[in-house]
Amino acid sequence: MSESSSVVKPDFLPDPLPEKQYEGKAKVLYPTDDPAVLLSFFKDDATAFNALKRGSISRKGEINCTLSTHLFQLLEREGVATHWIDSPAVDWMRVKAVEIIPLEVVVRNLAAGSLCKQTGLALGTVLEPPLVEFFYKDDALGDPLLTPDRLRLLKVASDAEVETLRSMALTINRILCEFFASCDLTLVDFKLEFGRERSGAIVLADEISPDTCRLWDRRETDPERRVMDKDRFRQDLGNVAAAYEEVLHRVLAVLGTSA
Ligand code: TMP
Ligand code: ASP
Repeated sequence: MSESSSVVKPDFLPDPLPEKQYEGKAKVLYPTDDPAVLLSFFKDDATAFNALKRGSISRKGEINCTLSTHLFQLLEREGVATHWIDSPAVDWMRVKAVEIIPLEVVVRNLAAGSLCKQTGLALGTVLEPPLVEFFYKDDALGDPLLTPDRLRLLKVASDAEVETLRSMALTINRILCEFFASCDLTLVDFKLEFGRERSGAIVLADEISPDTCRLWDRRETDPERRVMDKDRFRQDLGNVAAAYEEVLHRVLAVLGTSA
């Protein structure tokens, strides 16, 4: 376990570090000289169950920032607009300052997690077509699952925007499923967040990492050993950092990049 969460000031930031603009559970956002640009620091801190469970995963910030960097670049190459600008250090990302839409957009290919808990579907049930779900991003309310009518009632996004989110989420799912399969990983499900640019254009924001995806090792059939994501932390399965390292290793190997 690393002791993590302390922010080490990199050379590309002024001394002293500017006041942080926002601190979430996994990242800290800092302003830059350009109001259209923010710097995001990826922490090693890990939380689950709305931060009831807290810990730290060694090198998680660096791994999640590196993975997100590569996956955002892959998506951009495939025509998906993201908030990513560049990554000036292994655990720092420069991103567009967007207005975050307070929705967690979840795409599921296999039943797991809250879907199994709330519906009784067996773990691993194939979902065809993939299921897209919208959760209200509000920790105080416990991020509740929204119905279409509640989405409309809350006005967090217009009907047209919701359709754009659904369509972008399914496109991202298609690209990521294929990519992770080439890493011998099954993309079980994942959570996305989106933001609005000043123009109103919607871009993918936040991160894509083993914190926000369920990934199962295709080389393993054992239901515990195959888990390569934050479920190892959530469920106390052990070898959490090793799973994150292995995901990074496989992704870099497929991309032909060294660690
Ligand atoms: P769930 O099965 O708990 O609803 O999670 C669905 C996916 O969303 C899973 O890949 C984990 C991810 N997720 C987050 O990224 N953040 C969260 O706060 C939660 C609850 C899930
Ligand atoms: N990120 C969420 C939290 O702490 C939950 C999770 O990923 O399970 O609270």
